[in-house]
Amino acid sequence: MSKNIIPHSYQISKENRLASNNHSSFVLWFTGLSGSGKSTIANVVEQKLFQRGINTYTLDGDNIRKGINKDLSFSPGDRTENIRRIAEIANLLVDAGLVVLAAFVSPYKKDRENIRTIVKDINFVEIYINTSVDECERRDVKGLYKRARAGEIKNMTGISAPYEAPENPDIEIKTENESIEDAAERIIEFIKPKLKLKNE
Ligand code: ADX
Repeated sequence: MSKNIIPHSYQISKENRLASNNHSSFVLWFTGLSGSGKSTIANVVEQKLFQRGINTYTLDGDNIRKGINKDLSFSPGDRTENIRRIAEIANLLVDAGLVVLAAFVSPYKKDRENIRTIVKDINFVEIYINTSVDECERRDVKGLYKRARAGEIKNMTGISAPYEAPENPDIEIKTENESIEDAAERIIEFIKPKLKLKNE
């Protein structure tokens, strides 16, 4: 099928969009257990970027699993497809000139490697939100761990499904030892050179 698809050449390029934005575009990918703090930290980072005039967009379970991926379960195969589609969307948003924040459990190493391939290594910042299962279970903000322990939820990451921790993340945040504010600030410092801001 794809051999019959001939790309059209558009006059406005990614480079034009980046020049107009005055910053580069890439993906901040937050991985970690449910309840580890991915979305909370991503949200603070996005606010800090927004205050600096950077164009951002956040992808997370709320806008993805309730919309384009509402046909997908938490089986290993469906998680792979979930992450693949999100990576393709993130890739389009990078082309659109945005700094994309993506917060997904993304428990499998091979799926995260696939994101790197889709969006390209240079556009991928892997942020491991390292919070222990014990702590996530203690917080249990959504009550999912309790339900998983009761056998009401199958394939629950950390309980009845694996989480393959990144071996070499760009940034690792241990939320049991570091405040949200400090973590967000550390992420901002890390990405500053990547943003290629004119006056910083
Ligand atoms: S992923 O594994 O495919 O990357 P994703 O980040 O989209 O997962 O969705 C995870 C969110 O769905 C969790 O934060 C949690 O709120 C909810 N959820 C529901 N069932 C499960 C489950 N079996 N395992 C993990 N998370 C689940």
